[in-house]
Amino acid sequence: MPDEKASPAPSEIVVEPAWHAAWLPDAALAAVGRRRVAVVGPAEDDVLVTVLREAERATAAHGGDVVDPDGAPDLLLDARAGGDGFRLVRDGGRLTVSAPTATALLHGWFHVVRLGEAAFTGPDADERHAPAFALRVLDHWDNVDVHPVMGQVERGYAGGSIFYADGRVRDDLSRVTAYARLLAATGIDRVCINNVNVHAREARLLTDDLPEVARIAAALRPYGVRTHLAVSFAAPMSLGGLPTSDPLDDDVRAWWRAAADQVWATIPDFGGFVVKADSEGQPGPFAYGRDHADGANLLADAVAPHGGVVHWRAFVYDHTQDWRDRSTDRARAAYDHFAPLDGRFADNVVVQVKHGPIDFQTREAVSPVLAGMPATRLALELQVTQEYTGQQRHVCYLAPWWSENLGFRPWGEGGAAVRDVVAGRGPGASAAVAATGSGGIAAVSNVGDDVFWTGHPLAQANLYAFGRLAWDPTLDPAAVLDEWIGLTFAGQDGAVEPRVREVLHAVLDASWRTYESYTAPLGVGFMVRPGHHYGPDVDGYEYTPWGTYHFADRDGIGVDRTRATGTGFTGQYPAPWRDVYEDLATCPDELLLFFHHVPYTHVLRSGVTVVQHVYDTHFAGVERVREAIAAWESLDGRVPSDVDARVRERLAEQLRSAVEWRDQLNTYFFRKSGIPDTHGRTIF
Ligand code: GCU
Repeated sequence: MPDEKASPAPSEIVVEPAWHAAWLPDAALAAVGRRRVAVVGPAEDDVLVTVLREAERATAAHGGDVVDPDGAPDLLLDARAGGDGFRLVRDGGRLTVSAPTATALLHGWFHVVRLGEAAFTGPDADERHAPAFALRVLDHWDNVDVHPVMGQVERGYAGGSIFYADGRVRDDLSRVTAYARLLAATGIDRVCINNVNVHAREARLLTDDLPEVARIAAALRPYGVRTHLAVSFAAPMSLGGLPTSDPLDDDVRAWWRAAADQVWATIPDFGGFVVKADSEGQPGPFAYGRDHADGANLLADAVAPHGGVVHWRAFVYDHTQDWRDRSTDRARAAYDHFAPLDGRFADNVVVQVKHGPIDFQTREAVSPVLAGMPATRLALELQVTQEYTGQQRHVCYLAPWWSENLGFRPWGEGGAAVRDVVAGRGPGASAAVAATGSGGIAAVSNVGDDVFWTGHPLAQANLYAFGRLAWDPTLDPAAVLDEWIGLTFAGQDGAVEPRVREVLHAVLDASWRTYESYTAPLGVGFMVRPGHHYGPDVDGYEYTPWGTYHFADRDGIGVDRTRATGTGFTGQYPAPWRDVYEDLATCPDELLLFFHHVPYTHVLRSGVTVVQHVYDTHFAGVERVREAIAAWESLDGRVPSDVDARVRERLAEQLRSAVEWRDQLNTYFFRKSGIPDTHGRTIF
């Protein structure tokens, strides 16, 4: 392509990026950029044009070339093949990536980028790559207006929204396209662009503001990313002026159908709706004596003619409970509400289930809903934004935690795992569930308009890892981290300094367990400051209506969720877990206080008492943070100075906060129990 040959040499390109390149700095494209690359496929396809532009950009930066397919390319990218996903064939050093769609080809391109030199130098191969889940969604909890309590991005720790500013969709959406590029490089292809708590201003995205939503969709589309909207169940009243939002009312049904028709007329590749109903004050079908299947099917009916999907969240519980009432257990709520409805949801409804029965805690059991609805399409919902895991001030690489959840086997060893269930391969899966590949995976994004995208530069690893696990949930979290390091910290030749790789692993690999060790112990959860959820406050939620209790007294701590003497929550699991969790002798240590109330002197499998475990882990956790800081400081100029400065600032805050957690937790339990630390360390 003659005009590409005229591209400036790398040294002439002056780039002043307004944001960090994350895992796609030009250096990460060195191996592919040195090659001769050809692209073939339907020229009018926007995404194919993107593939071509990517090839041009990489080769211009690294001295390769974009050539015709018959010009002996080292890499042929062909969007005219059949099958699922993409196929990679390496034959005598020549690489062909072929796919049935330009979006799948784009994912193949980024696969080659990720492999670097190995893509071209490996042994001959013929591989097929397809995502494990058909639906891979990132949910943004972004508000158009700055909410008086929650700010612009609810639970956002990376500045404002990349979509909205000054109460409207941004004029310049180039950063949204850059975001779509980053997502495409991981395999994510759907984004919900507004908060599940749909306030009055944001509700209008569905109607008056559709042209603005269309602009966002246009900014995401070149990278094959489709747009979804969170909608308010009360929209027929608040936007349509109807007297009711009853899902069985004919006018309400007609209103939703017309609304959906308008959405797809404006954005033909629109994905669908996300709904938080009858949850934490959001409107829903309960007001009309209807259930969640009635509510979800109403919207499903409206979007079905367009091939749309409804993500209906299962995060439903009583947030106005009385702490004096010991019979109500928040952990039970989602299963109690949803499992009886199994089989009643339309085929284009996906019930979106948080990984745990409470709320994205650092450690909690896996939600039994995931094992209790074989005739319903289910999606696993994760939280990339670190609401309860250090708010992007603490390093906390979450992939090991997500991986545990995805790999959990509700029916025991040898049975299906959660990742099979959400791919439509759980036991007893109905024909519709199996045929659709079920509901896949969704997660709350951690991105904002911060220069590093995620506030803490190392929190980028979580976004990257979520995308990679959404594509292949069996990937090893440490290997995913290694990929992220390789791309993000690539030097000009595309390689990473070994010391940089080593330190990043040292800081990140075990950081989730480190965070767990200095925060709430043994699966009991919360103990955070109410409202913003940052920092320790052991009793912060203890006497509140939110249903998140630990029941500590002078003798012991933990929530009795057994069938024998507690709330009966263990009975929501199939065997063997219903019995494993029920019995103090078999319940895993890390979830002990999630399932049992025990004396402080209870001896764990590890051989120490509960209270001594609290002391030991809290002292050790702070030491791990100090070690991470020492490791980071040893990098001494080996990472870009802006990244270094930001990471140092965050690590200092992490240490301050970890010390605060340690001292408050240890002091609290010492004062409650009166039992001293066997090692005589300082407790206040
Ligand atoms: C958490 C979070 C809320 C959010 C809710 C949800 O409770 O604190 O801000 O709205 O989850 O998932 O809907």
